[in-house]
Amino acid sequence: MSRLTRTDRPYDIVLFGATGFVGTLTAEYLARHAPAGLRWAIAGRGTEKLERLRERLPGGTGTGLLRADVSDPASLRNLAEQARVVATTVGPYTEYGEQLVAACADAGTDYADVTGEPEFVDLMYVRHDARARETGARLVHACGFDSVPHDLGAYFTVRQLPEGTPLTVDGFVTTDAAFSGGTFASALNQFAGSRRLRAAARERRYHEPRLVDRRTSAPLGAPRYAPEVGAWALPLPTIDGQIVRRSAKALDRYGPDFRYRHYAAVRRLPVALGGVAAVGTLVTAAQFPSLRRRLSDRLKPGDGPGPEKRARSWFTVRFVGEGGGQRVYTEVAGGDPGYDETAKMLAESALCLAFDDLPPTAGQVTTAVAMGDALIDRLRTAGIRFRVAATR
Ligand SMILES: NC(=O)c1ccc[n+]([C@@H]2O[C@H](COP(=O)([O-])OP(=O)(O)OC[C@H]3O[C@@H](n4cnc5c(N)ncnc54)[C@H](OP(=O)(O)O)[C@@H]3O)[C@@H](O)[C@H]2O)c1
Repeated sequence: MSRLTRTDRPYDIVLFGATGFVGTLTAEYLARHAPAGLRWAIAGRGTEKLERLRERLPGGTGTGLLRADVSDPASLRNLAEQARVVATTVGPYTEYGEQLVAACADAGTDYADVTGEPEFVDLMYVRHDARARETGARLVHACGFDSVPHDLGAYFTVRQLPEGTPLTVDGFVTTDAAFSGGTFASALNQFAGSRRLRAAARERRYHEPRLVDRRTSAPLGAPRYAPEVGAWALPLPTIDGQIVRRSAKALDRYGPDFRYRHYAAVRRLPVALGGVAAVGTLVTAAQFPSLRRRLSDRLKPGDGPGPEKRARSWFTVRFVGEGGGQRVYTEVAGGDPGYDETAKMLAESALCLAFDDLPPTAGQVTTAVAMGDALIDRLRTAGIRFRVAATR
């Protein structure tokens, strides 16, 4: 089915999980920033909760309402068939996400989520990429803080460097923010399932075509003092490096030999060591079901940082790119990364997929490949900074 024939669907955008923490922020963002004539709906498993949310939304009466539950595949098929783009915040995605991806791939519906779970993304590639290519659906995972600033930031950095030459980009993330029950649950899930995660990555490698005449890599790197940013750099084994590498594989602009390394940047060594110890303790605790339950009881689904805390939160990702005898320093920065900015990134991704003139892609694609410059322009307009700090 071509994209044009899909304009006769009832909704441009359906937001699934609208009653959750990130979902509510995304619904509020869409309600405040909806272009005139946007046909959109909020969706979730609880009609009353959806109705209460709709009453609070600016211009809410014009917003549609769809009931759908992940345990009812027919409701997800119905949801996918009603929309041109489905954006979902229903996570942990490894637990709840697959049926909706399958429904969107089948219905030729564009799909955006805010997962940061590599196992989920790898399995969705193996199981649904081929079908999505057939129907023309674009499956775009990681449209939140994982991994928009890093994927689009690396893309933006590459665009400042010469073409046709080997390039390296290092990304250094600094944030001051808190997290929600949903994020905590997803993180614990990931920590507990490292064997499954490696198995999914292996399966993906088996199915994914190899590059023949270009090379890309995203090695973990080693902890080091990084004088180029004046901070301690700790390798971050998040999904971001994998996403950046996938963009580099898909786009020739990243050159014949591209390497990306992803770090947390911390100014003081004791803070860096404390962070490593805290993550190590959580990873160890997550291996034991009883400890995992006790930890997740401390931060319930639906809970998250309040408006005041979010207003004080911020993120900066600094990039150092090199190639063809040139070095460039760039930066992507914004407010509360996990929630306000994640909601903005997801909503703008959905609007971008629905309305912007984008390169023809289908199947599982990254934000840089599916939306690139168009999404950078949207995010800049929405207050996220992309800038070149210096070129040498
Ligand atoms: N990439 C990023 O940077 C980033 C940032 C923040 C969050 N996240 C991810 O986003 C996800 C959501 O986080 P959150 O804090 O918003 O979590 P949350 O508040 O727990 O929200 C989860 C949502 O899923 C819905 N849900 C749960 N089970 C369902 C079912 N059976 N059928 C339909 N809907 C169901 C919930 O519905 P009810 O309202 O009815 O309970 C709720 O709307 C998590 O996976 C988190 O890791 C990613």
